[in-house]
Amino acid sequence: MKKDCAVILAAGEGARMKSAKPLVLAEVLFKPMIDWVIDGVRESGIEDICVVVGHLSDEVRKHLGDSVETVYQQELLGTGHAVMQAKDFITRHGSANVLILNGDAPFIDAETIKGALNFHVRAVNQATVISSKIDNPQGYGRIVRSSSGQLMRIVEEKDASENEKQINEVNSGAYWFNCQALLNALGKLSTFRELSAAGRKKEIQLTDAVEIILSQSLNATAFNSRIPDIVLGANDRVQLAKLNAIARQYQLNRQMMEGVSIPCADGVIIGPDVLIGADTLILPGCIIKGKTVIGSHCVIGPNTFIEDSLIEDGASLNNTQCFESHIGKDAQVGPFARIRPGTHIGNQVRIGNFVEVKNAVVGDETKISHLSYSGDADVGRDVNIGSGCATVNYNGREKLRTTISDGAFIGCDTSMIAPVKIGRDAYTAAGSTITEDVPANALAIARAKQVNIKDWVSRKKPYKRQHLPEEGK
Ligand code: UD1
Repeated sequence: MKKDCAVILAAGEGARMKSAKPLVLAEVLFKPMIDWVIDGVRESGIEDICVVVGHLSDEVRKHLGDSVETVYQQELLGTGHAVMQAKDFITRHGSANVLILNGDAPFIDAETIKGALNFHVRAVNQATVISSKIDNPQGYGRIVRSSSGQLMRIVEEKDASENEKQINEVNSGAYWFNCQALLNALGKLSTFRELSAAGRKKEIQLTDAVEIILSQSLNATAFNSRIPDIVLGANDRVQLAKLNAIARQYQLNRQMMEGVSIPCADGVIIGPDVLIGADTLILPGCIIKGKTVIGSHCVIGPNTFIEDSLIEDGASLNNTQCFESHIGKDAQVGPFARIRPGTHIGNQVRIGNFVEVKNAVVGDETKISHLSYSGDADVGRDVNIGSGCATVNYNGREKLRTTISDGAFIGCDTSMIAPVKIGRDAYTAAGSTITEDVPANALAIARAKQVNIKDWVSRKKPYKRQHLPEEGK
């Protein structure tokens, strides 16, 4: 069976970015540009993807993992040369169609990809260039059409006449080709430039493949995308900031259209893969990223950072940082709380100010209201942990767990030296250092007994009060 495929060009250097990172790993809304492109391709139903890597290829390959095939372009000789490196991949797809995309143009979307493929198939095209009309076409290849509107060629900015520079329909750098027709044209590409421009430059341009196909009297036309932003790419940080601004507003609009309230978007950045339920309120200064899912009727913010977490309905997170964690229904977190990876906070839990929780399970209705650390802990239901308590989870070599059973009451300033277990309904006295398990229902007191030394102050006079009158005067 014919199986359409995609080749993504990602070998370019992007020197103007002035970054130690490969260009295609530059991030738009915290997501590398290449991941936007790959997600768009996958969403359109294409599974077989080959990425052409070159500059800092090891890093790009490491990022991509096994999710796609890669081929290596040793010398960056142009987009046509880049596609040539994927010849074997394209050959394997026989008479199917291949989608070619730029890895640094993140806004290509499944709707455009599918629309262009339908158009390509209906028109029995061998090549379909995805184009877009934009206000400032400078720097892009222009779509040159005949007086009757037929595609004639794509002319690059540097080769364009003054008249051609006025054309505002540009090549997005995305194309559908019939695999056989593309392979055939690739075979002719390098000689094509030499013949037509007499060695004027060494770049092997993919755009010429379209002209070759047209010169063979085969069908090639342009599909005009209704979303002009699909052409946008970033070669420097100013362009990257523009992409971020566009993507940010797009994501805010998407959330609001789904019923999320964002009354003031100052400092609010929501990643493209974040899902938020209706009637949730997002207050200023919130950054929500990764694969975060937030339920309905939540209040997030102000000034809250959430990454790769699941927040259930009705929860609130105020001035809080939350990473790779799960917050239960109607839980209240913050202000000034830090929820670190691997934490599961139960329903109706109260996590208060200056509380840090890490790699811990906290049972329903438990309260950890002030100034404490619960790391590597299994905390039961309806537990109360007082101010200043700490699970002492690290002995300098290994992390050890603390268990606090249902209904336990941990007095203020208790240190629990792990591994240790506090039994069901047990109490610890304030200021205790708990080194041994506490049985259920017991009270553990582990602190020095208080001694009052009578009249010590009047005998020693360690500190002379200057301003206060003596007692009784
Ligand atoms: C290309 C198109 C231009 C189009 C524009 C859209 C050509 C000749 N021109 O421009 O018509 O308007 O895209 O953005 O194709 N790359 C490689 N190997 C190379 C060169 C580039 O993998 O040797 C990759 C880059 O990493 C990038 C993509 O190809 O992801 C496009 O390269 P870029 O140099 O940005 O495109 P242009 O050639 O300027």
